[in-house]
Amino acid sequence: MSFEALWESLLPVGRDGASGGYRRFSWTPEDAACRAWFTQTAAERGLRVLTDRNGNLWAWWDPPGALPRESAAGGPAAPARTGAVVTGSHLDSVPDGGAFDGPLGVVSAFAALDLLRERGCLPVRPLGVAAFTEEEGARFGVACLGSRLLAGAIDPGTARALADAAGITLAEAMAVAGHDPEAIGPDDDLLATVGAYVELHIEQGRALADLDAAIGIGEQIWPHGRWRLGFTGRPDHAGTAVLADRHDPMLPFAAAVLAARQAAASHGALATVGKVAAEPGAVNAVSARVTAWLDARGPDEETLQAVVGEVLAAAREAAASHGVELAAEPESATPAVRFDPGLREALASSLAARDIRAPVLPTGAGHDAGVLAARLPTAMLFVRNPTGVSHSPAEHAEPADCAAGVQALAAVLADLACR
Ligand code: GLV
Ligand code: MN
Ligand code: MN
Repeated sequence: MSFEALWESLLPVGRDGASGGYRRFSWTPEDAACRAWFTQTAAERGLRVLTDRNGNLWAWWDPPGALPRESAAGGPAAPARTGAVVTGSHLDSVPDGGAFDGPLGVVSAFAALDLLRERGCLPVRPLGVAAFTEEEGARFGVACLGSRLLAGAIDPGTARALADAAGITLAEAMAVAGHDPEAIGPDDDLLATVGAYVELHIEQGRALADLDAAIGIGEQIWPHGRWRLGFTGRPDHAGTAVLADRHDPMLPFAAAVLAARQAAASHGALATVGKVAAEPGAVNAVSARVTAWLDARGPDEETLQAVVGEVLAAAREAAASHGVELAAEPESATPAVRFDPGLREALASSLAARDIRAPVLPTGAGHDAGVLAARLPTAMLFVRNPTGVSHSPAEHAEPADCAAGVQALAAVLADLACR
């Protein structure tokens, strides 16, 4: 099946009619529809599908003669032979996210396998397509939750207790979706079978557009993290409480937002407050509580800590001056990642051998390939995004560039896994 047909088959799943963006949050009916799409797409290709203990999806093209072994949990597990080459990305989205962030990597993975088959490639090692769960952390707050659990980068008990905006825990949501939350946690046996993970992703920036290149190779990911800032004040009447008497949590919240912008600008970093909840949310009342989430990213750990330190100091100072309590907690932290130099070189030479120009780029966006880099060689391919806009319904990649992405990925997989 062509890339276009595959792409079209996934496009309606979880799309919001009003915004045109996607709401594919983990362990919801939309997530189940994405999983069904993955399973059917893999089955149509005769690939062996498994859901790992952390809810990540895998579709395996086993080399001829390989016998799958059984997993510790009793289900069909990773292939018998080690050194598997895996590609893929994620299918979940941020609220009203674009169509490409995540799905482009999964659809391109299946399309690249189709291309390899058409060309008569015989894998000498297992080739896998993966879709990692809750990459965006949009429901439970921790980015790359599925790959983090797999890699042992988060304690399973902590993960089980994570709660969504309605107070539903990860454990409850998984159980409702028919997945055993007690089984989550590091899966060294599965990871040990994987020799390399190559993630194709839409570029979230416009470096490739500026360089006039359709394809890029990932170099490193900036360290980044999320902090939850809870400002607790005193609810009061908007029409009668005199200004001097108020303990308004909205004011230190506003100071924190402005400090984030200022600190990011002065350090050459990025800081964003994209989510805020005011309670109880009355137009004519001073809020009781404001909860805001800070997303901060920097070129190195020291810069990131300096930015966050300045924002928290400004928030604390403003909270104290308004008689408001502040509780600041880190929600998710991702250290700086440098992709495996050997694998990156392998990608570069596969592409150069086919006259595909592919500049090497750093990124501020987080990816499962970044989390998995702590456990195995990982690399990334980026596909040009003409405007650079991402995490938005306006996110876009041209069909010709998506096709170039499939060709580039197929080239890399052929060289890594085929005879
Ligand atoms: C993932 O897209 C992230 O960087 O937040
Ligand atoms: Mn994203
Ligand atoms: Mn992504």
